[in-house]
Amino acid sequence: MKKILLLAAVLILAAACTQKKTSKYLVLYYSQTANTKAVAEQIANSLGADIEAIECVVPYDGDFNATIQRSQKERAEGVLPEIKPLSVDVNAYDVIFLGYPIWFGTYAPPVASLLENVDLNGKKIVPFCTFGSGGLDSSVKDLKAKLPNAEILPGYGVRTARIEAVPAEVERFLKVNGLLAGDFSPLPDFSEARPVTEEESALFDTAVGDYPMIRAKAEEVASRAVPGGMEYIFTAKDLPMGPAPDAEVEAPARFIKVYVLAEDGKAPVFTQVLR
Ligand SMILES: Cc1cc2nc3c(=O)[nH]c(=O)nc-3n(C[C@H](O)[C@H](O)[C@H](O)COP(=O)(O)O)c2cc1C
Repeated sequence: MKKILLLAAVLILAAACTQKKTSKYLVLYYSQTANTKAVAEQIANSLGADIEAIECVVPYDGDFNATIQRSQKERAEGVLPEIKPLSVDVNAYDVIFLGYPIWFGTYAPPVASLLENVDLNGKKIVPFCTFGSGGLDSSVKDLKAKLPNAEILPGYGVRTARIEAVPAEVERFLKVNGLLAGDFSPLPDFSEARPVTEEESALFDTAVGDYPMIRAKAEEVASRAVPGGMEYIFTAKDLPMGPAPDAEVEAPARFIKVYVLAEDGKAPVFTQVLR
């Protein structure tokens, strides 16, 4: 009888120990307006991963302008928002998906707070983000500088305006990077860059047309066929929005790279801007 009781106790204890960690993957994310949350949930559902939101003690719960103002003030003062303690132990996971919105070209401040509080060095990290126009590459550069001893794996980023593309893109992203089993058709390399034709220049203008932060003229393009259409990387001269407040002449133009997706029967859209 004693032996049976002891065995039952061991089994209960073992079950309790495994309850906390249910996957080798953890999806850890901050999201203010639920775009990054949608990507986080997609990844967690596809992988059966554990998921945890990073939460601020005082949430950024104002509108866009209020958030910009608070965030700019914090940046000027060198202050990071206080975040709530995590309920998971990051050490229990092999791979951590780290998600964030891009704020001012990099990961949003609550993620900077997390990196101050929780040591992710030595971990495998898959960054993912949502943005108005771009910032995966610049935020990954900052992550690598902040976590020199972590292995930062290829990341995924998506424009807020293309959030409906997330289910298909996330599934493909996970398969391409060997995180999810399943077939996928590899994409060809981009062609060499060449001067744009008039038609390609017009396609570029349509793709960036209604986006207020881009006023650029396409000069070169590389392209490749993708299922259902074409993908382009335009090199464009980014024309200044106007004279800087304290300058008498306009700042010189610089070059940006703009990725554009033109699917058959749909208007072309830009998918990210590299500045
Ligand atoms: C304070 C602030 C700064 C932002 N800065 C950028 C930026 O530099 N580049 C960009 O492409 N989008 C920027 N955005 C847009 C957000 O990245 C985008 O709306 C994102 O999808 C929000 O994600 P969330 O819904 O998970 O909070 C900014 C938004 C806010 C509120």
